[in-house]
Amino acid sequence: MIELAPSILSADFARLAEQVESVAAGGAAVIHCDVMDGHFVPNLTIGPPVVKSLRKVTGLPLDCHLMIENADEFIPAFAEAGADWVSVHQEACVHLNRTLQHIRDHQMQAGVVINPATPVETLTEVLDMVDYVLVMSVNPGFGAQKFLPGSVHKIRRLAELRRQRGLSYRIEVDGGVALDTVAEVVRAGAEILVAGNAVFGKGDPKQNAETLLKAAAEATLEKV
Ligand code: DX5
Ligand code: ZN
Repeated sequence: MIELAPSILSADFARLAEQVESVAAGGAAVIHCDVMDGHFVPNLTIGPPVVKSLRKVTGLPLDCHLMIENADEFIPAFAEAGADWVSVHQEACVHLNRTLQHIRDHQMQAGVVINPATPVETLTEVLDMVDYVLVMSVNPGFGAQKFLPGSVHKIRRLAELRRQRGLSYRIEVDGGVALDTVAEVVRAGAEILVAGNAVFGKGDPKQNAETLLKAAAEATLEKV
């Protein structure tokens, strides 16, 4: 099943509740929250206080994508704020196994993320302990960047490895997912689609979410 995870990075932060409500009405299954620290990535965004406020206005799972150093230090605060899923970057975690375990110990779903330059093979030893793998299809830090097609073979490889090893992690893709790229990532095996600019960039977020989900569903049909 395909799930749409609108990224609030491109939403109007002064009207977050309303914007989340409209994408929920458009069929969004998850709300993607991009957390940036100005160190691991060259930008600053939101943290646990915003997650806590979102928790009060939506029942949808909150998917917190941590683009930060020292993730271990902040995991309890995200759990407390009401995060449901937390993902950390392979590149930012020296003790990745410990960090993923830390997320699980806080009763949240654990995800691992890889940048465009990071091979899937770097995840071999943690695939059996994650609930999802997030493939970045742009270099993290900003919304509305151009989709990098090199991510497609990584999605395919993750789907193949899952089959071979009998695992059950879900595959998420993030960056430049829009009407012109969605079919390709869905056909490769992506199940959770993050989209910021394509949903909140212009027009009506509800309608944008519906259109993107429809395109994804059509690609799923082609796949069978
Ligand atoms: C990039 C973020 C993404 C981003 C996606 O660093 O992780 O979630 O907001 O935005 P679009 O869909 O605009 O590429
Ligand atoms: Zn993200």
